[in-house]
Amino acid sequence: MARIPDAFIDDLLARTDIVELINARVPLKRQGKEYASRCPFHDERSASFTVSPTKQFYHCFGCGAHGTAISFLMNYDRLEFLDAVDELAKRAGIEIPRETQQREARPDSAPMFEALDAAMRFFQRQLAASDKARDYLQRRGVDDAVRAQFAIGYAPDGFSSLKDALGKDDARRVAVLEKVGLLSKNDRGHSYDKFRDRVIFPIHDRRGRPIAFGGRVLDPEDSPKYLNSPETPLFHKGRELYGLWQVRQANQKIERLIVVEGYMDVVALFQFGVPQAVATLGTATTPDHAELLFRNAPDVYFCFDGDAAGRRAATRAMESVLPRMRDGRQAFFLFLPDGEDPDTIVRSEGATGLEARLAAATPLSTFFFDTLGEGISLSTLDGKARLAERAKPMLAQIPDGAFADLMRQHLAELTGLGQAAAARVQPPVRTARGGRAVPAPKRSLVRHAIALLLQKPGMAAALPPPYPFVALRQPGIELLTELIALGSVRPDISTGMLLAHFEAREEAPALQKLASQTLPGDEAIWQAELHDVITQLNRQVVQQRIDALLDLQRAGALDPAGKQELRDLLARVGGAPG
Ligand code: UTP
Ligand code: MN
Repeated sequence: MARIPDAFIDDLLARTDIVELINARVPLKRQGKEYASRCPFHDERSASFTVSPTKQFYHCFGCGAHGTAISFLMNYDRLEFLDAVDELAKRAGIEIPRETQQREARPDSAPMFEALDAAMRFFQRQLAASDKARDYLQRRGVDDAVRAQFAIGYAPDGFSSLKDALGKDDARRVAVLEKVGLLSKNDRGHSYDKFRDRVIFPIHDRRGRPIAFGGRVLDPEDSPKYLNSPETPLFHKGRELYGLWQVRQANQKIERLIVVEGYMDVVALFQFGVPQAVATLGTATTPDHAELLFRNAPDVYFCFDGDAAGRRAATRAMESVLPRMRDGRQAFFLFLPDGEDPDTIVRSEGATGLEARLAAATPLSTFFFDTLGEGISLSTLDGKARLAERAKPMLAQIPDGAFADLMRQHLAELTGLGQAAAARVQPPVRTARGGRAVPAPKRSLVRHAIALLLQKPGMAAALPPPYPFVALRQPGIELLTELIALGSVRPDISTGMLLAHFEAREEAPALQKLASQTLPGDEAIWQAELHDVITQLNRQVVQQRIDALLDLQRAGALDPAGKQELRDLLARVGGAPG
């Protein structure tokens, strides 16, 4: 990923008017302090999509889509991060720092892209010239239109057809072909064509450039059945989805993606009028895949074989998507009968048959509890406890929101555990010795402080140090401290920019949620509230110390200095010794 300095990104966002940027693509209507429209990322009648000029970010209350000007371009124009930055830099008339540009433009990537493109065209010409390969595709029912759409080709037999055609004797060109994975080397260091006598499926990147290939044998006796390009500087299979480029070309708005296992499945689905299929490339669904899938479509269907391997693959996919399940996103699992794959299904049942199966696919929530409940009897207490133990760490990964709440509620129903317990990963630690009741942690104060700061992070600059509250052992204290530090150093930072800083952090969804609340009042009122909340938190530090000293006293372990401290503190808060 990009190594553009944070400061540059901040500057870029500061010079971009997000309202203007979005308004040029999605007409916005003024609504109080913000702008609104129907959400461009999901279907709706009402206008849940809001853009805030003060916070410099957008947020959809319907589907949860949100972000800065950069993420808007990534999602709406479907740009990669660097391209989005590039676009904004051009608009703002500023230059991306030169050092970064050099590193990112990767001077050696141009020849690699050229070689890959030349190879793709070579394979296509070879297909046109090979009766054998065309007969094979004919037999498998791959029509001309879809052959062209996927740039399907053929790598001829022989060890140097491609090398002779593209490499000639030029050592530099051969080196490039090696680098992009088109040549293999024997033990004497001699390189030869990697793909021989195979039907070739080019794998395109998100800008439609071929970056790798998959090759299928024609003869069922040959193996391996599929050969894929190795990992190269341009190709990381855990991050690519076969067919995604074609899906983007074929759909104005991608309502759903169907994840299948093979090249032929993708191609067949397109041919039969289901142009939303993508395939992972012989690997399990990675978290990178999950992110990429949901960045492109709100609904994702995973299609697997009905056998044990298919269930395992589905479980892996489930683990990868859970942390991505923001509200508005849905995942489904479809298991096909033994011996079938989407290719055979769509050919025998047509698009209608496949659609009917998709409509009946298992929702993530059902699949989750089915999988985790396997081998567990819920009629026993022990079984309920085991289900809870298995489920809790996984549920903890789901971003805050209605989906997470419903999943916890369901676990609570299944196990009879209270919902709060179902949400808690670790047992509560705040049980004081002697059984004295301890007040619940004042989490709402911390939350409120964070929510206030998110309205206008620069307010932190007016909070005078020191900050005794950092000593509090409460959830969110560290985050609050971090926000205050950031807001003090950079009082001009907008909410959107601040959220961008936290994008990769696990707190991101929670911050997002708080940031999108519109708090009543204005800046002066928030500032006063913030001051008040911090003061209260600081007082809690005293109470926390008193509690600790009282515990020691009860255990008979309080030394004279401690006793003195306790007396002083109690006098300060005006209480009596307990
Ligand atoms: P399958 O064996 O299910 O093949 O592999 P398929 O997609 O049904 O292919 P056809 O219909 O026989 O042509 C599914 C996917 O797993 C990867 C490929 O990406 C393939 O599309 N695979 C399979 C390999 O990478 N290597 C192999 O040897 C086999
Ligand atoms: Mn198949």
